[in-house]
Amino acid sequence: MASVSDPASKSAWKIWRDRRGRFSPLRLATLLLLLFPLAKTVYDAHLIMGGARPINDMIHRAGFWALIFLGLTLAVTPFRGIMRYGALIDVRRMIGVGTFCYIAVHLALFVADQRFDVAAAVHEITHRVYLTIGAVAWLGLAVLAATSNDAMVRRLGGLRWRRLHQIVYAVVLLALIHYFQQTKADVTVPTFAAGLFLWLMSYRFASRRQDDNLSALRLLALAVAVSALTFAGEAIGIGFAFHVSPLRVLTTAFDFRAGIRPGWEVLGAGLCVVVLDLIRSYWLRRLPRTNVRAAAAE
Ligand code: HEM
Repeated sequence: MASVSDPASKSAWKIWRDRRGRFSPLRLATLLLLLFPLAKTVYDAHLIMGGARPINDMIHRAGFWALIFLGLTLAVTPFRGIMRYGALIDVRRMIGVGTFCYIAVHLALFVADQRFDVAAAVHEITHRVYLTIGAVAWLGLAVLAATSNDAMVRRLGGLRWRRLHQIVYAVVLLALIHYFQQTKADVTVPTFAAGLFLWLMSYRFASRRQDDNLSALRLLALAVAVSALTFAGEAIGIGFAFHVSPLRVLTTAFDFRAGIRPGWEVLGAGLCVVVLDLIRSYWLRRLPRTNVRAAAAE
């Protein structure tokens, strides 16, 4: 077993190094990405402290970035396939643990906002539905973070570990409900986020039998289908909330005066992936065969 004075255990803290102890630019870039929201908060400190509710502002920032990093964790597998960039898998765990760090800060700030009165915080969480839902998602993320290490993979066995980590889908769903419920007025951004998560889930489902890769045509079909579902979901939601016909809401999709609807943004994101796939395929076709294998394993 490695002791604390053991050089191997010391290098475990150097997360910019890969498993073999070599410097990894990808890991360093991921670390910087994970630290970006923290740096931005420090940079915006004068704005935050000058605002009416500084702690609430930081609660929003931490929750927002946690959701972004949760999405990035799920995006690693599809993009590894689309970009034929195997090395991406090396940073998935890092982003997942980073997600949990932000969500831990999110909860800690909530307790701070209750003047560190833990009983009051628990009372709020158990009496407000959107907080209860957030808390269940929080617990799910805690389980995922606690089991995201080699020792737990060995202890549980690959199959059980993979099955356990399927709870990430429930976590995403609960986190999105929490996001929608805490948004008081305009739900454009949560709807866009929901559309992107739907794309990620649908990709995983569609690529299960396809060796992790979907053809450009299938990616195009996925982009159109997910965009259509986003439009439909938004129309049903607005129809339900304002007692109007969802079909009437759908007819406003081409009215760009009030802004671009999230369904179009989801379509745009899906089409970007198609273009990325085409560029990568074109580039791989031009490489000699031996380099193709090396590029995929990178
Ligand atoms: C015990 C668990 C949680 C508590 C107590 C909590 C509490 C809160 C509170 C108080 C807000 C601000 C609401 C307002 O100002 O009206 C908020 C917003 C938010 N929370 Fe949570 N939350 C929890 C878990 C989560 C989880 C697990 C996620 C997702 C990974 C999450 C993501 C968000 C997001 C995205 C926002 C909105 C950020 C924005 O305005 O852009 N929260 N949460």
